[in-house]
Amino acid sequence: MNAAFPLVPWPTAVEPRDGELAFPAAHVVSPEPLRWTLLAAELLTPLGVSVTGGGPEALAEGAPAPDGVVVELRLEDSADRSAGGEAYVLDVRDDGITVTAPEPAGLLHGLRTLRQLVTPRATVPTVVVRDAPRYPWRGLTLDIARHWFGPAVLRRVVDLAGSYKLRVLHLHLTDDQGWRLEIPSRPGLTERSGRTQVGGEVPPGERGWLTVEEYRELQDYAAARFVEVVPEVDLPGHTNAATHAYGELRPDGLPTPLYGGIEVGFSQLWADNPATEPFVRDVLGDVAAMTAGRYVHVGGDEALTLEAGEYARLVGLALDAVRAAGKTPAAWQEAATAAVEPGTVLQFWDPRADAAPLLRAAAAGARFIMSPASHAYCDMKYDADHPIGQDWMGLVELRDAYGWEPSTALPGLPPEAVEGVAAALWTETIVTTDHLFSMLLPRLPALAEVAWTPPSGRDWASFRARVAEHARTWDAEGWAYHPTRQVAWP
Ligand code: ACM
Repeated sequence: MNAAFPLVPWPTAVEPRDGELAFPAAHVVSPEPLRWTLLAAELLTPLGVSVTGGGPEALAEGAPAPDGVVVELRLEDSADRSAGGEAYVLDVRDDGITVTAPEPAGLLHGLRTLRQLVTPRATVPTVVVRDAPRYPWRGLTLDIARHWFGPAVLRRVVDLAGSYKLRVLHLHLTDDQGWRLEIPSRPGLTERSGRTQVGGEVPPGERGWLTVEEYRELQDYAAARFVEVVPEVDLPGHTNAATHAYGELRPDGLPTPLYGGIEVGFSQLWADNPATEPFVRDVLGDVAAMTAGRYVHVGGDEALTLEAGEYARLVGLALDAVRAAGKTPAAWQEAATAAVEPGTVLQFWDPRADAAPLLRAAAAGARFIMSPASHAYCDMKYDADHPIGQDWMGLVELRDAYGWEPSTALPGLPPEAVEGVAAALWTETIVTTDHLFSMLLPRLPALAEVAWTPPSGRDWASFRARVAEHARTWDAEGWAYHPTRQVAWP
């Protein structure tokens, strides 16, 4: 592992050749020139590499030499298919660059790796990189309910997550403070609870929620970069925005007041209220119908006012509604006490809680996303003096985000039950886009490496040297970062 190859996440194999290629300009040759030239330009032009592209005819005998280094993208089966469709080989030679992959996602991963090899002198070291991920679910959970972040910011978050080869953007769309996705069957959710957030209202000029159309466009943007959007409707707690919009959800029929604070655990639905089941089925049915991806997340965390039996009935209803709508349900770890079926995804976040229900759910076939707050929560402060963030789970410095192992983070969980790793950013204290990016950078790259690279390829000294080189790209993209003292920034 070598800082001359400042790759994050660290690949399966890096075989240096002994040279360097001048790389002021790239000519991308691919079977779909428009698509791949635009994707390559998006990655490379911020670093000063100009990009053109075209079809394979540029490589034909006697064709005029293209302007710039030929970057050939080849879909072919010779790439390691045992590692799944995300595997790729990046081959940088003196006379050109080739990315080979069995599926398009691997081609884009190869381009992302190439981008990380571009030096400040506009050169690339010659090298062969062979690579494939450890876990399929490599995600970021982002709360846009406590503070609203709109489509333009979300597209930049997709770019950042994608650049570290993440595959999942899980959006926490509903909470006590606001409701962020239009629901055609219950328009009052956004009409009455769409503009509020922690501390008051979303800024003037912002709507505060995604329309059906904006949600579709965001999913399309993400899908073009092989990122799947997983929507979360948090039930049966964290529901004050819903009970504010629809008082019928409460036993007394009266809407709850708007809530702009940051306490948790006070709101709920009622299992015996006749309005509850139609609400849950309609809302989750609408969300499932709007969602292109495979999963709908139903929350389930911190329903502290519900006794266990009522909680299990309500979560069981939500899981069933998602399955009935044709999607695979995901939920926070608390949902393990409800009727979990094989394939249900449980997101582990609280290492303080009793593990027994989680281990029973694993035995029943649940899949686990590992987001232990002590390592993966990017809303925790980096250090005691950090001006934003929380500290209820302690501090999460870069080394804490990097130095843990998903397969042993929940003692007793069979390693094969782990589907992946997700970073999480809750936004109670996150107000601006710079706040958002600086809580993710540099911790998100650390978590992306935990998700992608097996333990044998991970090394803190190597990581801190490699990630330092990324600040140039973050500056070029306008992504704020926290210059932690744990890294010697250039
Ligand atoms: C959570 O942090 N309440 C999932």
